[in-house]
Amino acid sequence: MSKERKRSWAEPYKIKMVEPVRMTTHQERQKAIEEAGYNTFLLRSRDVYIDLLTDSGTSAMSDRQWAGLMMGDESYAGSENFYHLEETIQNYYGYKYLVPTHQGRAAEHIISQIMIKKGDIIPGNMYFTTTKVHQELAGGTFMDVIIDEAHDPVNEHPFKANIDLDKLEKLILKYGAHKIPYVSIATTVNMAGGQPISLENLKAVRELTSKHGIKIIHDMTRVAENAYFIKEREEGYAEKSVRDIVKEICSLTDGATMSAKKDALVNIGGFLAVNDEEIFDKARNMVVIYEGLHTYGGMAGRDMEALAIGIKESVEYDHIRARVGQVLYLGNKLTDMGVPIVKPIGSHGVFLDAKKILPHLKQNELPAQSLAAAIYLDSGVRAMERGVVSAGRNPQTGEHNYPKLELVRLTIPRRVYTQAHMDVVAESVEAVFQNNSKVSGLKFVYEPKYLRFFQSRFEPV
Ligand code: F0G
Repeated sequence: MSKERKRSWAEPYKIKMVEPVRMTTHQERQKAIEEAGYNTFLLRSRDVYIDLLTDSGTSAMSDRQWAGLMMGDESYAGSENFYHLEETIQNYYGYKYLVPTHQGRAAEHIISQIMIKKGDIIPGNMYFTTTKVHQELAGGTFMDVIIDEAHDPVNEHPFKANIDLDKLEKLILKYGAHKIPYVSIATTVNMAGGQPISLENLKAVRELTSKHGIKIIHDMTRVAENAYFIKEREEGYAEKSVRDIVKEICSLTDGATMSAKKDALVNIGGFLAVNDEEIFDKARNMVVIYEGLHTYGGMAGRDMEALAIGIKESVEYDHIRARVGQVLYLGNKLTDMGVPIVKPIGSHGVFLDAKKILPHLKQNELPAQSLAAAIYLDSGVRAMERGVVSAGRNPQTGEHNYPKLELVRLTIPRRVYTQAHMDVVAESVEAVFQNNSKVSGLKFVYEPKYLRFFQSRFEPV
């Protein structure tokens, strides 16, 4: 390691405006979590001190992005901001055709309805909740082809989002390429703990799929974070810019869905981008039914402007290094405290291993849900369950899906919190871990049909 590498990172910005947050008493938090049915999604944000529920739509925009809002061209058709966004996506990501949407899942809906037929198989590197639901609603079945290491929270594989080429090839041989409309690739994989895919692996997936005439659709929600890990970890990429790595990733895929609320530093927005003109035509036709005209797709002109600027900022090295650096800071601190977390530390959050933190709870007592509620109660820090509740039920048998990973996600919004906030978070998690025997399990008292983690209610067992 060179001398320079040992220097501390710091944010490449200074603070211009602040938003006060409320600090609460234990008694107030007890009342709030009971009223929320022990589900952190149902808390009111006024009762939250440090909000690590998600990195989605929670970023702080730059002064340039705020200035961009003033440049909003709110024409119904042909807004200038659409053309700026289209040009930015072509330049930075390389996809030919853009269909804006109000957020990522709308793009997932459109591409799933266009490409998936009843009975199709969609292999992917683990699943994301909304992506999988849209694939299923279109009549398809998602099949996980991520490497086994991804399901092991202590395995230190540097590219845990890699596809197991053997598993993928077996699926192609078993079902036939005509049953596989596309392989679904995410950069980075959220449910695995924010883990990256390597370019070497993606190139091999491209080769295999091309041989069989199968497309690759890229969930590029956190592509810049993935590119940063490639630059840091993959041989041959240390000297390449994050911007170039992002473009290379995109060039190996046929199209993408994007939740712009993450990497791209805006509070709302998303898009579908494809290279195939026929798919684009269909998507442009569908977007007018569900989202809005094809030159705004559910976004205001000003939102498209902020997004175009955010995309450019997202691939700047100093930005992405500080963003991931803050996550690593929290993860390393928790590791030093002996708290079991998913390794390697991911790009958008730290994932607590709830099975190990609450070893006295069985998985049907919802350890991750219970842990998230306990952390909130301790300090007002809001986290998210990513375990059996998020995994839902098997549509055939109606039983809970029991994922190997039973996690609580401490997700870090971009450019929002300070290192001191991270210290408070780590101390709270440590306190709950040390008093783990006091945390009881939870049971469902209300469960909605789709994406149950958002609105379910619970009670202590
Ligand atoms: N894909 C990934 C990998 C995501 O993380 C998300 C959202 C989506 C797609 C859907 O995008 O929310 O804009 O409709 N993830 C958020 C989260 C909700 O908290 O991880 P969306």
